[in-house]
Amino acid sequence: MLYQQLADRLQNLIGENIYEVGTRLPGVRQLSLQHEVSVSTAVNACRELEQRGLLEARPRAGYFVRLPPAQRAAPRLGKTGATPRAVTGQQRVLRLLQAVNDPDIVNLGAAVPDADFLPVAVMERAFHHVLRTQRRRCMGYEFPPGAPELRAQIARRLAGHQCQVTQDEVLVTNSCQEAMHIALQLLTKPGDTVAVESPTYYGLLQVIESLGLKALEIPTDPVAGISLDALDLALERWPVAALILVSNFSNPLGVCMTDERKQALMHCLNKHKVPLVEDDIYGDLPFNGRRPSPIKRWDTEGLVYYCSSSSKTLSAGMRVGWLVPGAQFEKARHLQFINTLSVNTPSQLALAHFLQHGHFERSLRNSAMEYAKAVARMNARVAQLFPRETRVSRPAGGFVLWLELPGAQDTLSLMETALDAGVSFAPGEMFSAAGKYNNCLRLNCAVRWDARLERALITLAKLV
Ligand SMILES: Cc1ncc(COP(=O)(O)O)c(C=O)c1O
Repeated sequence: MLYQQLADRLQNLIGENIYEVGTRLPGVRQLSLQHEVSVSTAVNACRELEQRGLLEARPRAGYFVRLPPAQRAAPRLGKTGATPRAVTGQQRVLRLLQAVNDPDIVNLGAAVPDADFLPVAVMERAFHHVLRTQRRRCMGYEFPPGAPELRAQIARRLAGHQCQVTQDEVLVTNSCQEAMHIALQLLTKPGDTVAVESPTYYGLLQVIESLGLKALEIPTDPVAGISLDALDLALERWPVAALILVSNFSNPLGVCMTDERKQALMHCLNKHKVPLVEDDIYGDLPFNGRRPSPIKRWDTEGLVYYCSSSSKTLSAGMRVGWLVPGAQFEKARHLQFINTLSVNTPSQLALAHFLQHGHFERSLRNSAMEYAKAVARMNARVAQLFPRETRVSRPAGGFVLWLELPGAQDTLSLMETALDAGVSFAPGEMFSAAGKYNNCLRLNCAVRWDARLERALITLAKLV
């Protein structure tokens, strides 16, 4: 059939990166002219590619190239049967993070995007602008709850995601890490248990360790997200002070729960009256252009403590994040004050300026598209270089990949060898309080793709 021949031809062009992941395919009229076929043949070819999982139709926008279908199976669901555990040994995270600032090491470890992925020039102009126009204010403290114009912009964005939040409920923090820290300070006392996804972001485990809490790992499916049945059982069985999770394009699995599952999760938490600390730091980075809802959207009982920041979208160095702590706002504000007095004033004002002038949406689209390409490239190279039985996550946003290696691998000791060889990755065990996932590792894909990176990947694959 003619349309299948055209579909094959277009598939080859996608494979050769002539049409890159995240970009729009020429319209069907243009395709029909370019390939000398009728418009209906072009339409059928696009539909065929949609079925093959290579294109995605977006209403009124056309067809977009999506990540190729899985080349590798997804990682397996972690084992169940956990009990609450004290968290220890998170100091080794610092060793990994320090590698980011070492110019001799290719950073596939820390989830810090290379500046190539960020709107550096526009941010630079925003900083210049506020330093010029609000010089005196920039020299002083912007005491908690933070700059009103920034809080107004954050509330507007949340309202756009259907969360009922006003400016008066937004507390500016020293990025997402402090937001989560304050939220858990509000909700727990030493010795309490906090439920987490398994695997979970190691930064959450660090906060849990520093507050003398215990972590209860809940099995998390690499595609569907946290197991609601296991969570329900765990909340029946253990006195859990809070659940903390990354709701959209999680770290490390890249999971984005469906709206139905988010509502079911909220239902479960309402039933047990357990608060949720929602970390939505990757939510603005979907590969398909559709921003998923925060779980906060369905919070009718004031149980969700919403945390996020601009670290993955604009700049991790800016250190600006936010917390919506509901009824505990005044206490949270006081904790922010005694923790660090205030948040960097020029950063707050520059971010507010950036948001007020509508730069954010454009820059998000661009960053998310670049992240999609980077993840696709990394996925393809992993499929070529790593052992055949390696399982790889399929994130639909963000920029990290989670790999489950075949056989009995010890990625924690592998990390030391890899660092000596000039490449970092995050070993799986860092993502568990119970010492699981030592056969897994996480790769940061938001890195500059050049010959040095290629060499680093080959080195890593050989070590594996
Ligand atoms: C899921 C998640 N939450 C929070 C953070 C910390 O973010 P911030 O730089 O805003 O403190 C990170 C950073 O890697 C992260 O991946």
